[in-house]
Amino acid sequence: MRLLLLACLRAQTGNATTAGRIQDHLEAVGHICSLKDASGYENPSEIANLISAEKFEAALAIHLYKGGRLLQGSRIPFGIIFGGTDINEDIKHEEKHRVMGAVLEEARFAVAFTEKMKELAAAEWPDARSKIYIQTQGIMTTPSATFNWKRFLQNAEWHRREPHMHLIIIGPAVDPQFTSEVNEKVTRAPGVHLLQEIPQDDLHAAVKRCFAVVNSSISEGMSAAILEAMDLDVPVLARNIPGNAAIIQHKDTGLLFTNPQEFVQLSKSLMNDPSLERKIVTKAKAYVKKHHSWECEREAYQNLVLKLQ
Ligand SMILES: *[C@@H]1O[C@H](CO)[C@@H](O)[C@H](O)[C@H]1NC(C)=O
Repeated sequence: MRLLLLACLRAQTGNATTAGRIQDHLEAVGHICSLKDASGYENPSEIANLISAEKFEAALAIHLYKGGRLLQGSRIPFGIIFGGTDINEDIKHEEKHRVMGAVLEEARFAVAFTEKMKELAAAEWPDARSKIYIQTQGIMTTPSATFNWKRFLQNAEWHRREPHMHLIIIGPAVDPQFTSEVNEKVTRAPGVHLLQEIPQDDLHAAVKRCFAVVNSSISEGMSAAILEAMDLDVPVLARNIPGNAAIIQHKDTGLLFTNPQEFVQLSKSLMNDPSLERKIVTKAKAYVKKHHSWECEREAYQNLVLKLQ
């Protein structure tokens, strides 16, 4: 099939990574799957033109609003993959809620990453319940062999008390104002470094050489970065918010903190207790292999697109 996959493709973000993975799953069984950036289109008629011009036979969209709204009234069959913020945030907005309901009605199937996401959507649109599938994100890490930390850290100012410890923040500067606030704080914090995004294989190699991965987010989502760290045998210290608590069991597959004091205390116990570290790493790896299998995700999408024929 010639498939269109619509998603927000801002480089090195979660949605873009998921889209790339799904594209790979589908092309592996002979489909042609074109990725298009949803933010480059205004309305469904622009997408209708694209569909005729490129002779797409079916479509997929990530995010019920951002991607899905562009497929409203589409003459080709399509499926939806919930993004997270659609069900958690956009749903509160009356007009977006209406559009999302209409899109879901037209969709042949929808995919939720978690049971909870499915339940939220099904509570809102009960008629759609039977077509919502649960498929967690598949994780496969591929650390590059040639990655060299020294390139990044040669100008680093050593942390005063723990000179061998650094906190490294890596990622694209999405919001310029927030980035400049972070930048300003980081400049005054020895041992903390802000680095721009790097290719995923290098990121995996970098993470693999870290003592721990920290997630201090206060906003919701499902963190592929945490799952990748687990797959790379690196312990995770994450803020105790529902998105993180859904994938981490405290002191079992990672450590959850609620405030800075707890973060410090848990970091110390991780540094001083190698048996705790070993246990966490082993259990986290088993969890990812069992619940975030890349092979299962591949098979699930290859089967789901058959519903679009
Ligand atoms: C941190 O966790 C939140 C919530 O699970 C998630 O939305 C975010 O993407 C995560 N970020 C990183 C870098 O792990």
